[in-house]
Amino acid sequence: MQLNRRNFLSLGAAATTIPALGTSTQCSKPSTFPKEYFLNWGSMYLQMPWPGLKNKFKFRVIADTHFIYFDKRDEQYADNYARMGLNQKAKLPERLPAPSMYKLEDAIATAKKNKLDAIMLVGDILSFPSIANVEYAKKRFDDAGVPYFYIAGNHDWHFEGLPGSSDDLRKEWIEKRLKPLYPEGVNPLMYSKVVNGVRIVAIDNSTYLINEEQLEFWKTEAAKGDPIVLIMHIPLYIPGAPKGYCGSPHWGAAIDPYWRIERRQRWAEKATPETFAFRDAVLSTPNLAGVFTGHIHQAINMRGNGQNMFSVPSCGGHPKQRYLDVTMYGA
Ligand SMILES: [Fe+2]
Repeated sequence: MQLNRRNFLSLGAAATTIPALGTSTQCSKPSTFPKEYFLNWGSMYLQMPWPGLKNKFKFRVIADTHFIYFDKRDEQYADNYARMGLNQKAKLPERLPAPSMYKLEDAIATAKKNKLDAIMLVGDILSFPSIANVEYAKKRFDDAGVPYFYIAGNHDWHFEGLPGSSDDLRKEWIEKRLKPLYPEGVNPLMYSKVVNGVRIVAIDNSTYLINEEQLEFWKTEAAKGDPIVLIMHIPLYIPGAPKGYCGSPHWGAAIDPYWRIERRQRWAEKATPETFAFRDAVLSTPNLAGVFTGHIHQAINMRGNGQNMFSVPSCGGHPKQRYLDVTMYGA
């Protein structure tokens, strides 16, 4: 494929240093590796050379497939998934999978053929936690034949209109429904695994907030020194990015656009101190190879404090841009 300015980007040249935010501590340790990556959104691939990496590590990042499958088993929640189910209430009690609608099948069926070492599923794979959605996703993940790493998005655990805080509802629906989608035995809010010399760290920021335990977990994992691929659902904030990103000083009730539509509690007044500290800690981690998120349904890359962050488009939302294939290799 011919490269042009639009779809070629050498990321190294765009390094910036982020200023301290009003509510956060300053990032004090800039990146020590060059992190000169090659990204091609046209073909959806990213190459990340990494000093000293012995084996190749190839992975695919998939987000926001937003499954809307349900059946009689969830009839009692019909009102809670009617809107995200694209107002299919008239067709209740059953909406069965329509494979042509979504492209997770393609993205996963080619995983083995493409010799992937892992698949990262970075949230909003489901539009709500119906039994049919979870079963459908689980079957596809298992069919991939390669290890997969799932972390929830804000919709995965959300049945609209149920009472309770985001924190409580996340806990409840992960336990009731989403548990089978995670690697066995992990803590769904934070876990890590080393594959081919690369540490995959999964952190659930689907409430837009980070708690104390997650912050400590990040610090412990980061201190281990091996190259880290961080997967989360919501992108981290850097100055200039949209105000609603994770760790934004602008995030809060005043700019919550959808709380009435999504029938949930309004965002807190502002983010927790741990959220700001987490953002700063991540952006100050010299062994961080990259941050991979979804949520915004668009292909973007951001660079802050010398770190590279990527959000992948909604899988199925565009005929070609369905996921990002990443290769890490020794440099
Ligand atoms: Fe989302």
